[in-house]
Amino acid sequence: MLLENKVAIVTGGAKGMGRAIALKFAEEGADVVVTALHIEGARKVAEEINALGRKGLAIKSDISKSAEVKDMVEQTIKKFNKIDILVNNAGGVGVTGGDTDTATEEDWDKIIDVNLKGAFLVTMAVVPYMKKQKSGKIINISSMGAVNPAVSVLHYHAAKAGMLGLSTNLAFELAPLNIHVNAIVPGPIETPFWDSLQPPGPERDKFFKALAAKEVPLGRMGKPEDIAGPALFLASGMSDYVTGQVIYVAGGQPLLAHAATFLSAAEQ
Ligand SMILES: NC(=O)c1ccc[n+]([C@@H]2O[C@H](COP(=O)([O-])OP(=O)(O)OC[C@H]3O[C@@H](n4cnc5c(N)ncnc54)[C@H](O)[C@@H]3O)[C@@H](O)[C@H]2O)c1
Repeated sequence: MLLENKVAIVTGGAKGMGRAIALKFAEEGADVVVTALHIEGARKVAEEINALGRKGLAIKSDISKSAEVKDMVEQTIKKFNKIDILVNNAGGVGVTGGDTDTATEEDWDKIIDVNLKGAFLVTMAVVPYMKKQKSGKIINISSMGAVNPAVSVLHYHAAKAGMLGLSTNLAFELAPLNIHVNAIVPGPIETPFWDSLQPPGPERDKFFKALAAKEVPLGRMGKPEDIAGPALFLASGMSDYVTGQVIYVAGGQPLLAHAATFLSAAEQ
């Protein structure tokens, strides 16, 4: 097993890719702290982790609130006495609009808080423990929109680009302490993330199919498990000489699918 006796925190681990990462880590021997905005979902995942023979701990914690983050990390240390792995996964958009006609200052503050400041707060609370043990793995979840936006969502994409800057600077600062920091850039992944933009149903299925055909070289949407594998690599000893890197887990993006290029377009 790749993570035997390791302790991991996965923020936003109640659903979507966070849940898949938490379960993959548990399958590989880790005890996992699952944090989320709503405790019920986190509890369910913690139970699934227990059923795998590892210890799961569910904690309600809003990553954008420093007091809740501090409390979450204290509870983790009280139960497990160490933190080996942190996945800064929690995030989301939750608002419609975000281009120069529709973005608001209020949305900007809210979205930057959840998608950038939150990872900063959790990292600041966790790193002192990693420094003490002179080891650690931090994985930051960004987004394709940070580097190759397909739609204009200024606040969210700026926050996710910030995640890449945060990763690089942390990797630089923490490398001498044997703390590895890397980022994953997911492509379009089928998770509850999309619910606030389009509810599940046949219309959404049609939309996903068209999106994948047009924009994803591998021709399909990603599944949460597609993110869990690369996250496991970055969390384990298999990546001990890897830090400050970005892995695109995006079905071949940011290259465009053939169907999306001018030279191969049907209208040509
Ligand atoms: N699904 C995609 O296509 C996609 C693509 C690129 C990047 N991402 C990013 O990947 C990450 C995971 O997304 P997902 O698709 O699994 O989404 P999801 O909506 O399924 O899960 C997000 C999780 O984050 C938690 N969360 C949200 N705000 C929080 C807060 N303030 N404090 C604590 N927890 C909070 C939620 O409770 C939930 O458990 C997010 O950062 C998202 O922005 C998603």
